[in-house]
Amino acid sequence: EKGGYDHFMLKEIYEQPNVIKDTYRGRLLANEGIIKMAGVEDNIEKFLHAQRILIIACGTSWHAGLVAEYIFEEFTRIPVEVEYASEFRYRNPIIHQDDVVIAISQSGETADTLAAIKLAKEKGAFVFGVCNVVGSSISRETNAGAYTHAGPEIGVASTKAFTTQITVLTMIALRLAKAKGTLSNSDFHRYLQELEVIPEKVQEALETNDKAKEIAEKFKDASNCLYLGRGYNFPVALEGALKLKEISYIHAEGYPAAEMKHGPIALIDEQMPVVVIAPKQGHYDKVVSNIQEIKSRSGKIIAVVTKGDIQVKDLADHIIEIPETSDALSPLITTIPLQLLSYHIAVMRGCNVDQPRNLAKSVTVE
Ligand code: F6R
Repeated sequence: EKGGYDHFMLKEIYEQPNVIKDTYRGRLLANEGIIKMAGVEDNIEKFLHAQRILIIACGTSWHAGLVAEYIFEEFTRIPVEVEYASEFRYRNPIIHQDDVVIAISQSGETADTLAAIKLAKEKGAFVFGVCNVVGSSISRETNAGAYTHAGPEIGVASTKAFTTQITVLTMIALRLAKAKGTLSNSDFHRYLQELEVIPEKVQEALETNDKAKEIAEKFKDASNCLYLGRGYNFPVALEGALKLKEISYIHAEGYPAAEMKHGPIALIDEQMPVVVIAPKQGHYDKVVSNIQEIKSRSGKIIAVVTKGDIQVKDLADHIIEIPETSDALSPLITTIPLQLLSYHIAVMRGCNVDQPRNLAKSVTVE
């Protein structure tokens, strides 16, 4: 049932090229310049009149929501707020009738997310679900939705759900951008083409497996680890840290790279591995100067860079090279080596990768 892999988590990491394709199949028609998703089409007026989009989720799904915040705001110019469902539901949140709420959940059973949806509906908002499990409580409770087609995710650590959630959310943002005219025609078409080839690039990113294993060997005994990224890759830093802590039990924190100097830099010494997401697109030069700051404090730098990178290669202790894509789509690629790194570290530490201690696949109690 693990398809020849040692663990479900590894199998699910490797399924990503296929499930991303399954998720956009029939919805993304790149050559025709069309995105069609029934749940969005049927409610297009609601989306187009939205004064605000509120994204509600927990854990890894919340990280996908954060990536979506950057994408939606850039593509559609609709203001977005991303909320932990558990915080949202208990603070008498301000919800307007012209707010669109997007709830993200792999399992579709997360208690806090479900309660937050009920609250938003009571206050008159339109609630759209992005779920993986068909017929789940959240998919039934929402007014409309779009499923991810990741297939069953068995490993407790979410991997393929994350990338397929981002795929669905990116398609929604592109569809709305087209209707609103907030992306130029050429950018719209370029993104469609780029999204279509993401599965091939994810496949290529999976070839970093040996490198990830080699790096894992060096850092498996670390007791702390810092993850840094900026812009679209700030949420990827959070997700990288979550993956490491939940399956390897190494304390890890994700930070926006520029926040380092507001506190976490105090932690950096020769014992501290720092994973920096530094693809060529985006805030490259700024991230390079963050890397220099880590280096001058003797931190150990593991950098995820675009293939062919020279500058970071010179500074970092280890580099993982990934294929190039535009900044907005890069989380789909940069997240892959971080999943592999956590996986190998956890295996080397003898941890129960698929069923980490104290965790449940779906959190049906608050
Ligand atoms: C992390 C993880 C959890 C879930 C969270 C939300 O790898 O699996 O953080 O992402 O419990 O679960 P869903 O998406 O099912 O609502």
